[in-house]
Amino acid sequence: MKKILDFPDGFFWGSATASFQVEGGIDNTDWSQAGRDGKVPPADAGPDHYNRFESDFDLVKDLGHNCHRFSIEWARIEPKEGEFSEEAVEHYKKVFSALKQRKITPFVTLWHFTLPLWLSEKGGVANKNFPKYFANYCQFVVKNFKEECVHWATINEPNVVTSNGWVRGVWPPFKKANFIEIFFVLRQLKKAHIEAYKAIKSVDLIAEVGIVKDNMYLHASKNPFWIIVSKIFRWWWNFYFLNSIKHYVDSIGLNYYFHYHFGERRTLRDKSDMGWEIYPEGIYYTLMELTRYEKPIFVAEAGIADEKDQFRAQYIKDLIYWTHKAIQDGADIKGFIYWSLMDNFEWALGYDKRFGLIEIDYDTKERKIRPSAYEYKKICQSNSFEINI
Ligand code: BGC
Repeated sequence: MKKILDFPDGFFWGSATASFQVEGGIDNTDWSQAGRDGKVPPADAGPDHYNRFESDFDLVKDLGHNCHRFSIEWARIEPKEGEFSEEAVEHYKKVFSALKQRKITPFVTLWHFTLPLWLSEKGGVANKNFPKYFANYCQFVVKNFKEECVHWATINEPNVVTSNGWVRGVWPPFKKANFIEIFFVLRQLKKAHIEAYKAIKSVDLIAEVGIVKDNMYLHASKNPFWIIVSKIFRWWWNFYFLNSIKHYVDSIGLNYYFHYHFGERRTLRDKSDMGWEIYPEGIYYTLMELTRYEKPIFVAEAGIADEKDQFRAQYIKDLIYWTHKAIQDGADIKGFIYWSLMDNFEWALGYDKRFGLIEIDYDTKERKIRPSAYEYKKICQSNSFEINI
């Protein structure tokens, strides 16, 4: 027998990108410099979304999405300290208006991992004025685009920024910091978010200012030791940052990719091309955990690297099934945004990993819609989901 699961009216369905990962041609960030230094692969032209956003948004429309999450590149907007680029403002104006023409609601991330080179040369996040620089930039952007956009997010994945850049040392600024420095960095990010929140509200009271958080489903075997370890890690990774900004946030975006089962090494599940276990039900628990903040929630990212497109359609359906269950169980979820619209620059791993609903041929820049994207389209268009019971 079939059963239809309906989503609330006005539910947002879409997919996401981030500027550095898709635009191409950004040469004045810490990541561009790391590429030139041979520490990470160079991003170069990539999918060239900067020049092709109009036709890319035609595809977004064809795929039945009613929203689109993207990020504004700080280094384009403020290429030198305190100097704002009119050309960049004009460019993003065109991006917003292309979305508007297609009736696609924008969700904008103000900072998705890459820092302007001038700021990274001054110590980046560790610079004592970082929160001020960030708030200033955010205020400038919102002031210029407040007619075009309501849904803003300040920082994408503060814990990932800290762990990859400051603990594991695999992303700029490639540090292996001590415990005190790590807390300092997290405090800087916390302050940056709060100052940005206030600065944005001072120019646009109706702006919805959120954060995009990288929570994981952290569970444990029955062993009391692993239960305690998982609880500590869960507090640290999932809650510490959110607890400290909870009075300065209007919505929470969840990026869900991982589960970790403490005390359980066997894994029988299939893995994505990233080597990450496919574990869709974890999104339910991470969404339910966020209800404690009593804020609207968006699935801001969930997706899979799957070059052969063999798991993607089912994974999307499973994620959506569990998202629906979380709504039924009381989570105030407003939208589901798949990562990613198109194949893109997967940070230190370069262009090999394929997360896209749309396949990119990096030589010709040709776009090809993957079969799974059409499966997702059916759900987006009907605002409902059919299951067999
Ligand atoms: C990030 C994306 C990234 C994706 C897959 C998220 O952590 O926001 O930029 O490409 O995960 O790794």
